[in-house]
Amino acid sequence: MLPRGLFFIFVQCSREKLKRMAVRKPKLLIIGANGFVGSWVARLADSSFDVTLGSRNVSGPNSARIDITQADSVIDSFQTIKPDVVLLTAATADIDKCEREKDLINQINFQGPVNVATECNRLGTRMIFCSTDAIFDGTLAAYPEDATPTPVNEYGKSKARAEKAIAEIHSDTVILRFSLVLGRAFAAGTNSYVDKLDAQLRAGQKVATPTYEYRNPIDVRRLARVMIEMASRPETGIFHVAASDKLARYELAQKLAVKLGHSPDLIVPQTEPIPGRAPRGLDDFLVCERLPAVTGFVVPNCDEVIESAIDRTT
Ligand SMILES: NC(=O)c1ccc[n+]([C@@H]2O[C@H](COP(=O)([O-])OP(=O)(O)OC[C@H]3O[C@@H](n4cnc5c(N)ncnc54)[C@H](OP(=O)(O)O)[C@@H]3O)[C@@H](O)[C@H]2O)c1
Repeated sequence: MLPRGLFFIFVQCSREKLKRMAVRKPKLLIIGANGFVGSWVARLADSSFDVTLGSRNVSGPNSARIDITQADSVIDSFQTIKPDVVLLTAATADIDKCEREKDLINQINFQGPVNVATECNRLGTRMIFCSTDAIFDGTLAAYPEDATPTPVNEYGKSKARAEKAIAEIHSDTVILRFSLVLGRAFAAGTNSYVDKLDAQLRAGQKVATPTYEYRNPIDVRRLARVMIEMASRPETGIFHVAASDKLARYELAQKLAVKLGHSPDLIVPQTEPIPGRAPRGLDDFLVCERLPAVTGFVVPNCDEVIESAIDRTT
């Protein structure tokens, strides 16, 4: 906890920065803007922010080639763009790939966020970081914002280490933790679970899905709006963004299949872990308390999340 005097200076600084940002459109740099979540934020933030799309593979106006694993790349882009706020959605979120490629994941999911936080701290730039329910082992079935991280796989470990490091490096940081993000992406090849499921079901494939893993998802539209709101507010620290109830992944996939116009019978129960698959938490339920208390966020239930997840209307 900050001493009272320091806390006052910190709040004053944030208010001054917000006043400066109010006279022009604040500059928002989204790193990972090609991805599923980043591209939603880019579309929704366009009216209130001067948005720059950051990624390794991006070109065109209002874009910047950035590789977060390279400190020089981060420094150069920050010098050119001078962002007021940075949203870091870039990561490798493939849990099984993370288990196999620990060095690569350490570079992207840990060293990358450290590089970004270091530059945010040097320039006084607000940072929004994306974390995950995978930082918990899923044995408690309810994790509030102040629960101690207990990751069981390399992906969760890399995110937990990144959370700790960036909070130590830069005080003006928001850490948003969420579980499965449901929604349609604007491009192929992203990490959208709904798109991947739809493609498998369209091909007539049966999709084995765990009956014993419980999650409380969020839809990408609500998540993107939360990110934009937190980019404009002074509060810092950890916020969970997740539904008020939970579903077994099997039941969730069945509900999605129906909404997507497929037979729920294509979702087949997987009743025990598949050998070789990275370990997952059984019930990572994220208690979403702080966000409603601070912002008035109305926590949706799983059915509302699913309803919102199947169209691309922004
Ligand atoms: N989707 C979910 O269900 C979910 C759930 C919980 C948490 N999260 C977290 O939410 C965030 C966003 O996930 P997402 O679903 O949008 O993932 P995504 O679709 O895979 O997008 C991630 C983007 O990161 C970029 N990237 C990767 N390595 C990079 C690097 N070294 N430098 C710069 N950019 C890099 C990639 O673009 P380029 O290849 O063009 O660089 C990619 O488009 C991630 O932090 C993820 O861990 C997602």
